[in-house]
Parts: sequence; structure tokens; C-alpha cells
Amino acid sequence: MIQTVDINIKTTQQTRLAEVDFNNIAFGKHYSDHMFIADYLEGQWTDFRIVPYDYLRMSPANATLHYGQTIFEGLKAYKGSQGGALIFRPDMNAKRFNRSAVRMCMPEIPEEVFLSGLTELVKLDAQWIPDRPGTSLYIRPFMYAADEYIGVRPSDTYRFMIFTSPVGGYYAKPVRVKIEMKFVRASEGGIGAAKTAGNYAASLYPARLAAQQGYDQLIWTDSKNHTFIEEAGTMNIMLVINNVLVTPPTSGTILEGITRDSILTLARDWGVKVEERKVSVDEILEAIQSGTLQEAFGAGTAATVAHIQAIGYQGTDYELPPVEGRKLSLKILKELEDIKHGRAEDKFGWIVSV
Ligand code: COI
Repeated sequence: MIQTVDINIKTTQQTRLAEVDFNNIAFGKHYSDHMFIADYLEGQWTDFRIVPYDYLRMSPANATLHYGQTIFEGLKAYKGSQGGALIFRPDMNAKRFNRSAVRMCMPEIPEEVFLSGLTELVKLDAQWIPDRPGTSLYIRPFMYAADEYIGVRPSDTYRFMIFTSPVGGYYAKPVRVKIEMKFVRASEGGIGAAKTAGNYAASLYPARLAAQQGYDQLIWTDSKNHTFIEEAGTMNIMLVINNVLVTPPTSGTILEGITRDSILTLARDWGVKVEERKVSVDEILEAIQSGTLQEAFGAGTAATVAHIQAIGYQGTDYELPPVEGRKLSLKILKELEDIKHGRAEDKFGWIVSV
């Protein structure tokens, strides 16, 4: 049960729903009618409000624009089989958001503000939830430093906001990924576990180089020796080797994925052997060559379960087994979709219904 907080609601005069072709939605192109805002002033969160979606006005000297003191989350709402809105594990996002806040020297937001803002917003814009297979309402909570000040120090003021966006799949087809052996996403002691802009900014140049070589995404490796795989930036990486579901541990340089946690929970519940341990690049190459690498996929909120079709390493592309035969990842994808839409039992209490 989500404890509610007082939210001032001002609704739009004119919905923009008709502008969206719900039969053909790309990721991240459309934004729903309303947004939630809270301000952090004089050491307190205040002025909780939902207003029509609009542009922000800010000073050119806004601290976020220069030093990147900003964090975000991503989660999804689904149209339930009974018609209501179902939100997947929002409490986990609220908790991770506050862990990111601590690392980025930002104020934590009370979970009840995060969750009430989110549920009220989804309720108000419930008509924006698409219902074709593979679609959902993506929810983007974020916080940014609001001070008008260009010295380097944590801001005194912040804004927390949530907006939503009807989306289709993040990747249109199974992905080709490159094991990155030169650039790094995160190093020990850094900000890799925080969901903050800098991690994504750092990935853009290496990802562009990889795209020029025909890859959709990178698999990052550890910053010391590039020996062990980490994550893919938009998703955690999972492998099925010899019938064991294997994924690297989240030890500070890897985002603590909520889809990752959900998949490990389901697999353990089904009696699948799961190993959270370091996975070396050599182990992956050997498993491909010996035929023991049965499945490889990315796991993330936006990406859901993204099958990996090929892995590129030092100029060679290794094609992986056909997606049709990938029993575990297909079963996981189906079960997650069924739970999220209210078609399967919510055994772990993951769904918040609004
Ligand atoms: C998500 O999966 O929600 C993310 O935040 C990844 C982002 C790159 C879309």
C-alpha cells in the first residue's frame, strides 16, 4: 500500500493523445499529457504538483548543465487484462534512485513522494498506456541540481520530476554486441552503480565507433585489464552456459538492474542453476567455440530481454545459436510479460495496481 502525499493537480486543457499512432510506437518519441514536479528548497522537499507536460525554464548557469549532478530511473506501466494500470516493482526504483542520490551528493526523496507522484501521474495519464504486445508506458523519474552557480560544489536546490512516454521495444531485433577492449564505462570507486548522466555520456563515443563497425551495443569490460565482462550500458548481460544462468555480480561498477534481479529470482524459483560471478572474455569465447554457450541476452527495463545474436571480439564476429531454440530466455520473457500484464500469478508481489 502506497502512503499518499498531497499533490496539487492542474490538468491539461487539450490532450495530445490524437497525435500518437498507437499502432506504431517507437521508443522515446512521445510524451504524455502531464508531469510531476517537486522542489528541494532550504533543505526540504516541497510543492508536490502535477501540471501539463511542458518545457523547463532554467538559467544558462544551472549547475546540472555544466557538471552533470543529475540522476534518473526507468520503469514501466502496463495495461492489465482487467483494464487498470499495472506498474512493475516501483519500490525497487525508488530505492535505487536514493542510492544514486547518495553517490551523487544529492538529497534523497522520501519513497512515498516518489511512489505517490508516480502512481497519481500514471492514473491521470492511463489512456496513454499502449496495449499492443511489446508496448508499455515508460516512466522516467529524474532529479537535477537547480542552483544557478558555476563553482564546483553540490547544489543547494534540486528539482525532482516524473514524465511518462508510450513506448515500443528499445531494440527492434536481436542485437550484435562488441566486447569493448579499449574504452571503459566505470572503474572501481567510480559512479558505475549510480544511474547518472555521466555514465551514459561516457558511453556515446565508444558506442558510435562500434555502430560504425555494425554493432548495436557494447559489452563493457573491467577497467583494469579488460579481462571480465561487466554490463552493456542499457542492460545487464546474462549467459546460459551448460544449462547454468550466469551473470556478473553487481559490485559497484555495474548497475543493479531490476530486470536482472527479477530474472534471477524467477530462474532460482524454477530450479535453474544460477551463478552470479565474474565472467571472463576468454570463458565466453571458449564457450562459443565448444558449443556450451547456449544463450546470451541483455536484461533491462527499456530493453526487457534483448537476445544477443552475435558477439564481436577483436575484429571477429561470433554468431550465436538461433533465437528460436533459446528455451530459458524465451520462457523468462514470456513469464515476465505475463506477470507485468496481470496474466500470470504475481507470486513475488511485484505489481502495483492503480
Ligand atoms: C532503462 O532501461 O530504463 C534505462 O534507463 C536504460 C536507458 C538507456 C533507456
